[in-house]
Amino acid sequence: MLTAVTGTGDHVRRNRAAWDRWSVEYAGPGLRNWAAAEPAWGIWNIAETQAGVLPADLDGRDSIELGCGTGYVSAWLARRGARPVGLDNSAAQLATARQLQDRFGLRFPLIHASAEQAPFGDGSFDVAISEYGASIWCDPYIWIPEAARLLRRGGQLIFLVNSVLLMLTVPDTDDQPATEHLLRPSFGMYQFEWPGDESVEFHLGHGDMIRLLRGCDLEVEELLELRPEPDATTRYPFVTLEWARQWPCEEVWKARKLS
Ligand SMILES: C[S@@+](CC[C@H](N)C(=O)[O-])C[C@H]1O[C@@H](n2cnc3c(N)ncnc32)[C@H](O)[C@@H]1O
Repeated sequence: MLTAVTGTGDHVRRNRAAWDRWSVEYAGPGLRNWAAAEPAWGIWNIAETQAGVLPADLDGRDSIELGCGTGYVSAWLARRGARPVGLDNSAAQLATARQLQDRFGLRFPLIHASAEQAPFGDGSFDVAISEYGASIWCDPYIWIPEAARLLRRGGQLIFLVNSVLLMLTVPDTDDQPATEHLLRPSFGMYQFEWPGDESVEFHLGHGDMIRLLRGCDLEVEELLELRPEPDATTRYPFVTLEWARQWPCEEVWKARKLS
């Protein structure tokens, strides 16, 4: 694994290739999430009533999902009255999103683009949201200023990521869950690459994230540390329930555009 190196600039192409390949594995979970009566977040499917991720009033709000994948978050927003746009870097993921739109009879624009360069004017949206999309696959020093540009004054940026603690304690050997030991430095954490994997992830420490958000005129409103229920299950091998009940493995940032 590699941390704290400067961006290669090649990550958008590499992540597109990876997600075009992985998309087939995400169609089933995408269908389940589209079919869900209520939003449920992250790897433990934590109910919206418990997590409190979404704004109370979405009626008539223009939203953009940055890294929408199969598009279920945007579907949840549409059902709550928002006017969503889904944007993703992978044509294969968007093809699944389109199929699911047809299946559920719920359509909204799907845009094939990188969230680091969204083809929309300044101040086009009231809400920008990302659940493990741009929030971990894009360079934060590019996608967060871009999201801030897209938001209107008073608009909200909401994004879900792996927690800092998880990123510091998860081994870089395949399929091993997070440990109780700090395996790498937190100072300088930024770009992560895993052995044998072409994809590139980005994770910042809390101080750097707050500095970045404030520098983009975004006021931090909340940092939700998600805790699964005692009987929660996940299909992901990188963290156990016992671990996730003791420490947050997922975090949701909420920030508001000031001007
Ligand atoms: C885990 S999915 C998250 C989406 C959704 N929550 C889901 O689980 O289906 C990650 C998505 O981020 C997208 N992504 C990666 N890099 C991106 C970029 N530069 N711009 C937009 N989307 C990107 C991938 O193509 C993938 O569809």
